[in-house]
Amino acid sequence: MEHFLDIQQLTRTDIERLLDRSGYFKDGGTGEGFPQHTVAQLFYENSTRTRISFEMAAKNLGMRVINVDLAHSSEQKGESLDDTILNLRAMGIRYYVIRHSEEYVVHGLAERLHSHDIHFINAGDGKHAHPSQAMLDIMTILTHKPELSSLKIALVGNIRHSRVANSLQHVLSKMDCGEFVMVAPPVWQPQTVFFGNVSASLEESLEGADVVIGLRVQRERLTAGEEMDFEQYRQDYALTNERIQQLAKPDAIVMHPGPVNRGVEMDSELVDSARSKILEQVSHGVFMRMAILEALT
Ligand code: CP
Repeated sequence: MEHFLDIQQLTRTDIERLLDRSGYFKDGGTGEGFPQHTVAQLFYENSTRTRISFEMAAKNLGMRVINVDLAHSSEQKGESLDDTILNLRAMGIRYYVIRHSEEYVVHGLAERLHSHDIHFINAGDGKHAHPSQAMLDIMTILTHKPELSSLKIALVGNIRHSRVANSLQHVLSKMDCGEFVMVAPPVWQPQTVFFGNVSASLEESLEGADVVIGLRVQRERLTAGEEMDFEQYRQDYALTNERIQQLAKPDAIVMHPGPVNRGVEMDSELVDSARSKILEQVSHGVFMRMAILEALT
């Protein structure tokens, strides 16, 4: 694999290979070390999970990691992102983990700088894609519910602005998920659907669900006309212990990519419950990102 940009680039075999390798790392496997490689991390948007788990993953593989201090880099003096990368490349760095608020920025870099022997990883680009999140999500789902073709998965929240929702649709489609429903009030429903159904009814969507995934209410991504009365949203769509117990399967699991707005899209009681796999998703993130980095070497 040259780059890791989105789920669409992966075949089902690629996905299965990454799942195998991440499982190997989870079981304590160490693999080959790569002390000759350095990873540069450029995060133009805030991150806790993705940035630190890529850093841990790289270090677990013996790689060196540089977190580029963007607030003090020469981009602040007008240097372009392309020139920043080319200068880091001149220092010998070939691996780049990039999060950006604009869609397709990492794809553009991969295309323009293709002759420089560089590997790019998309750590989330605007509303477009978050492929490593989708991979750790499918790893978590399969850990608890291996029969994907017979599962009902409900994704609840602001689907329209969610790169997580986009990447999840692609991975569930490639892995033949039985039923996938995206639940949101009309103003937050997706304009384009790759896989699954869309519903405004939380009750119908949670009915018989095996996996329920909450999404963060992304206040910062709302544009004019998309505002929401959050008290109304809570009444209609908040994921609570009571709703899950009444509607979903008795052994349903609950997930969330984080960060969670406790008491907004999901109640604390549910976040901290036995059915919540939210922190397990975070643990899986390190193993899956080890598999992704290893696949690029
Ligand atoms: N899930 C996720 O991308 O979290 P961070 O924004 O903390 O990386």
